[in-house]
Order: sequence, then C-alpha cells, then structure tokens
Amino acid sequence: MKYFIAANWKMNKTISETREFLEGFIPMVKDITDIDIVIAPPFTALSAAQDGMKGSNVLLSSQDMFWEEKGAYTGEVAPAMLLDAGCRHVIIGHSERRQYFHEDDTVVNRKVRAAQKAGLGAIFCVGESLDEREAGKTFEVIKSEVEQGLAEVSPDNLVVAYEPIWAIGTGKTASNEQAQEVHAFIRKTLAGLYSGKADTIRILYGGSVTPENVDSLMACHDVNGALVGGASLKPESFYKIVSFKKEN
Ligand code: 13P
Repeated sequence: MKYFIAANWKMNKTISETREFLEGFIPMVKDITDIDIVIAPPFTALSAAQDGMKGSNVLLSSQDMFWEEKGAYTGEVAPAMLLDAGCRHVIIGHSERRQYFHEDDTVVNRKVRAAQKAGLGAIFCVGESLDEREAGKTFEVIKSEVEQGLAEVSPDNLVVAYEPIWAIGTGKTASNEQAQEVHAFIRKTLAGLYSGKADTIRILYGGSVTPENVDSLMACHDVNGALVGGASLKPESFYKIVSFKKEN
C-alpha cells in the first residue's frame, strides 16, 4: 500500500509564507514517487498553494468544509469550491474541530458523505482524550467514532487518521505499540463495515510526529502514513518526514 503523508498546517501561514515554503519544499521531494504527499494550508492560502504545486507530485487538501452545496451559510466553504481551488482531499473531524467548534459524529458523517459525493477524498480523523484513555475507554471511543462517522460512507477514496488527542502538539507521541494496537483495532472495525475492502484503506497516525520518530512509527504493520502538524511547517523538517527510512 502506498504511504500517505499529509501536512496539516492548521491556522498557520500567510500567502507569502506558503509560497516560500513550496519554493523550498517542491524541489526537495520531486523524486519521491512512492508516497502520496499532501499539504493542507488554511483556506486563504489554497490558491497560492495550488499555483506553487502545479505540475508537482504534491497534492492539495483543505482542513475542513461544509456539507451543503451552496447557499446562505455565511462563512462556510462548499465541497465544489474546494475542488475548484485544486483540492483533492479534505480533512474532516479533526479533534480541534470536534473540541472547539462542537462538531459531533453526525456533523462529521454529513461532511464525509458530502466530500465523497463531490469527488473529494476524505481524511477522516478519530482519537481519544487522555481522560478516556486513562478510564480504559479508548477502544469504545474509537469504535463509536468510526462507526458513526462512516455510516453510509464508501471505502473508496477514504483515508482514516488516528490522532490521540493527548499526543497532539504535546511532544508526547504514542509508543509504537500503542499506535499499532489502535490501528489494528481501527482496521478490525473497518472490516466490520467493509469486509475485505478494509485492507485497502490507509490508516494514518497523527500526534507529535517528527523526523526522529517517523521511521519507527511507519514500520508498524497497520500504520500507512502520517498526519503531521507542527513538524510540517518547515520544508526541511517535512521533507525529512516524507523521506523516512523504510524497513526492508
Ligand atoms: P502535531 O503534529 O503538531 O502534534 O499535530 C498533529 C495534528 O493534529 C495533525 O492533524
């Protein structure tokens, strides 16, 4: 399975900073053909990013979208608008959207379905909080998020990201064992929804991924890529992540 490594820039980078990043990054990765490299800038920089990655092997993603096609929804962005801006993917259900913008599983599910209907690949995020992990509820939370978020969703053009909330932006990465355990559980839950097709869905790990820990995380059997926040903001650092050392 081809690895999928995505940069989630969150609320960082102006248009000129985006251009500067890509001028450095695109030449660095031009010979990497065996990994899907994806960058999700903020909405305001999508167009500049699309210009900067034109003709390259790097794909554009959005960080969010609304599920309606058009209309009176002040401040929102429709799936077709993202396609028009050059996006191939969209991140949906990130824990920051769930936490700060009160997105629940119903909202997340509507967004995933709308993305697929429009022809965008969904990067669908799940993950437990520290309290939930410490209370022994990790699997229960993940199963519920996966099953509700993916109700009536096709396994085609779908990527799942496991991002333990306690590992995001904290410098505390899940151990390889913790990541593999949850990824295998997600795979099993996907098999309940999609049977054999579950093996074709890439499951990304996210949460304090760095050039230092990426090799061992990517070596875990059910880890098929990464969703990277802080360490994707500098070209050198994100380049080191996408050129991680593969096991023979
Ligand atoms: P960090 O890599 O900064 O921990 O962020 C992870 C994340 O939330 C990516 O979506």
